Amino acid sequence: MFEEYTSLTEQEAKTFVVNQKDEPVKAVMAERVGDATVLDVGCANGYDADRYGNNYTGLDISEELIKHAKLRHPDKTFICKEVREYFKEDVHYDYIVCKSVLEHTPSLEIAQEIYKLMIEHCDVLLVAWAMIPHNTYKMAQTTGHFGKTIWQNWFKESAFALPNVSISKKKVNQYSLWTVTKV
Ligand SMILES: C[S@@+](CC[C@H](N)C(=O)[O-])C[C@H]1O[C@@H](n2cnc3c(N)ncnc32)[C@H](O)[C@@H]1O
Repeated sequence: MFEEYTSLTEQEAKTFVVNQKDEPVKAVMAERVGDATVLDVGCANGYDADRYGNNYTGLDISEELIKHAKLRHPDKTFICKEVREYFKEDVHYDYIVCKSVLEHTPSLEIAQEIYKLMIEHCDVLLVAWAMIPHNTYKMAQTTGHFGKTIWQNWFKESAFALPNVSISKKKVNQYSLWTVTKV
């Protein structure tokens, strides 16, 4: 189901997505988290691990990406698991950060499932995705990572509303950053 990530080669994993346009939103997320316990869902090859404090855990489904993350940061904790599998464990974090992940899941239903589980396993969820106008930007023709239709324009608050959960939104460049808390 997540073959585009689980089939990454060693070389692809090493050079996986470093995008300068992400800087501002990642900086806002890291500033919020400070030194609290944080789980980075979809941490890729660990290139963001240094942004966060001493209580960082990175999680990713790709073995190759996690292998590189561990080589890069031997002092930090990385877990290779599908996120829904991981949440079968009794784990809790002050923050969960999740950037550019939900919009690449195979369906809205899976994105909603992951979103709900993330909220259940933290105090504060920081979730962000790029808001690309769908009429002017089509990506479905490419292959591999980002090779599928990107449907984040259908990310409406109504699709992610849950009882006793509040969402506060902030736009940072082309990213929409949601701060999600239980009330
Ligand atoms: C587009 S990348 C974003 C990486 C990074 N968060 C960033 O913002 O640059 C998506 C990452 O999420 C991981 N991922 C996707 N679905 C996942 C799942 N169900 N469980 C765990 N990791 C997943 C992928 O392997 C990939 O590293």
